[in-house]
Amino acid sequence: MIEVKQLHPLFVGEVSGVDLRQAADAKTFDAIVEAIDRCAVLVFRDQDIDDGQQMEFSRMFGELVTTSLTLRPGYTPRLDPRMTDISNLDEENRVLEANDRRRLYALANRFWHTDNAFRKIPARYSMLSARVIPPEGGETEFADMRAAYDALRGRTKREIEGLVAMHSIIYSREVIGFTDYSKEEREGLPSAPHAMVRTHPGSGRKTLYLASYAHDIQGMPTPEARMLLHDLIEHSTQRQFVYTHRWRVGDLVMWDDRCTMHRARDYDRSYTRDLHRTAVLEEASALGQARVA
Ligand code: OGA
Ligand code: MN
Repeated sequence: MIEVKQLHPLFVGEVSGVDLRQAADAKTFDAIVEAIDRCAVLVFRDQDIDDGQQMEFSRMFGELVTTSLTLRPGYTPRLDPRMTDISNLDEENRVLEANDRRRLYALANRFWHTDNAFRKIPARYSMLSARVIPPEGGETEFADMRAAYDALRGRTKREIEGLVAMHSIIYSREVIGFTDYSKEEREGLPSAPHAMVRTHPGSGRKTLYLASYAHDIQGMPTPEARMLLHDLIEHSTQRQFVYTHRWRVGDLVMWDDRCTMHRARDYDRSYTRDLHRTAVLEEASALGQARVA
């Protein structure tokens, strides 16, 4: 049977007693779902998993997300398109040059976000597996958006109830001056609407749904919308809501994208940092939470 040790006063569980390379039985699967519904982020240590096994494990929880990088003409992947390459390596496993487009694109992972919020049907869970880790830095931080919601003032809760934010991955990169997008990418990545306050299905708790992709709020002047989004993200990422994950090779961290945000931290880019990510889609029905056409 699996055991779960809480790593942060509010959320995050370290799970032991499971080998993710083996197909989980129904009891183990249910225990993982129960744990992530409660803890939102699960840390599995010492999981020497390959991409095929990681996809198998992830598929138990839903349909795999395909990376939006496939929209790019001349896309030459290092990994299967259902694996998001969270590394600083090129297709021949060499560390990317400072001015490499892929490196500059990936820098925006250091903004707080939740995966695939820029799509109509975003990620439900993400699974990130550490293959090579730099000697220091390169942590991943997670914010508990249910706790952040609970801590809002009553006036703010009332103000944001029913608001719908527009999310664009292109916007999140333009903020740091990255504008190198092809026509295919611009057309294939329109903004996606998502309710800012949602009820987390697994726990029944209210949660904020925010990300660096959010650039507008329906029915609100843009400057006011951006200021509100900025304030809410600042509120949500105060130290008491944040867990910092210091990676070890063999860690697999699984998180619920519906009630957390995360961000990468800086590291010395002359070292290799190689993590492989899968994600599974939210059920389409969760979209019903955004009252939009
Ligand atoms: C991700 C991500 C952050 C990191 O895998 O989706 O944002 O620390 N990763 O690399
Ligand atoms: Mn991410």
